[in-house]
Amino acid sequence: MADSSERPVGVFDSGVGGLSVVREIQARLPGERLLYLADSAHCPYGARSRQELIELTRGITRWLLSQGAKLVVVACNTASVAALGALRSTFDVPFVGIVPAVKPAALATRTRRIGILATPVTFQMEMFNDLVRNFAADVEVCRQVCPGLVELAERGIVAGPEVEEPLRRYLEPLLTAGVDTIVLGCTHYPFFRPVIERLAGPEVTVIDTGDAIARQVERVLGGQRLLRRDGCGELLLATTGDVVRFATVASHLLGATPNEVVPVDLDADTPAPHRPTRRGGDAVTLPDSGDLTP
Ligand code: DGL
Repeated sequence: MADSSERPVGVFDSGVGGLSVVREIQARLPGERLLYLADSAHCPYGARSRQELIELTRGITRWLLSQGAKLVVVACNTASVAALGALRSTFDVPFVGIVPAVKPAALATRTRRIGILATPVTFQMEMFNDLVRNFAADVEVCRQVCPGLVELAERGIVAGPEVEEPLRRYLEPLLTAGVDTIVLGCTHYPFFRPVIERLAGPEVTVIDTGDAIARQVERVLGGQRLLRRDGCGELLLATTGDVVRFATVASHLLGATPNEVVPVDLDADTPAPHRPTRRGGDAVTLPDSGDLTP
């Protein structure tokens, strides 16, 4: 492709979570072509080892680059804190990663107590603990893992009793501790935001990093003269897992039905063609988004 700005922005996550970041990028940069890969075959990432995450995310990045990605967004807190350094030292492409919004929360809190919802791996990694040390040393940081939430989002269930029951349990210790700011430190969690806000009450501010990531994508692309300002943006979806399942849940969460979702085998020698929508054969045409019954 002669004009590099025409190339897609590659975005990936363990599954549907990164679509919460895609929404923000689409809102800020409507002209960009986005290529989203969900590593559904290996979801969840939240309890994997750093080495596994480095290997998985290297494979994903290789695939995104084979499709012409001009920038790679690691739309996953877990993968970013575990593997971003390794990815940056392996590949010659700009990366934008995502980390829990510890700094904005520490600046915003009045009670001097903040809550972070994230995966076990995110809390273990030094990148997260450095954030706390550097930006929230004078603030009480309540860490809360949320087992099962990622799996619910992967099934497209983001409201109702199945969601409220665990969320009440996860929020209770934070609210008892008196936090007034809660950080959504996993990209799957913004899909639960309305429920979290309702359960936490009006005194609590919920912070999500999606918009900040979109602004960073804009800054990095702008700095490299890679912004695609004209033309109509598009979203191409791909998954390493079950295409029909991913397609159904993605269309439900995005509130729009993409044309098709392409299956990706990261172990295959030959990468899929650059334009997944032209692949024909294996791609799956989606059911209407209204068909999803949680
Ligand atoms: N969405 C991811 C994150 O931001 C990972 C969730 C998972 O696969 O455990 O951390």
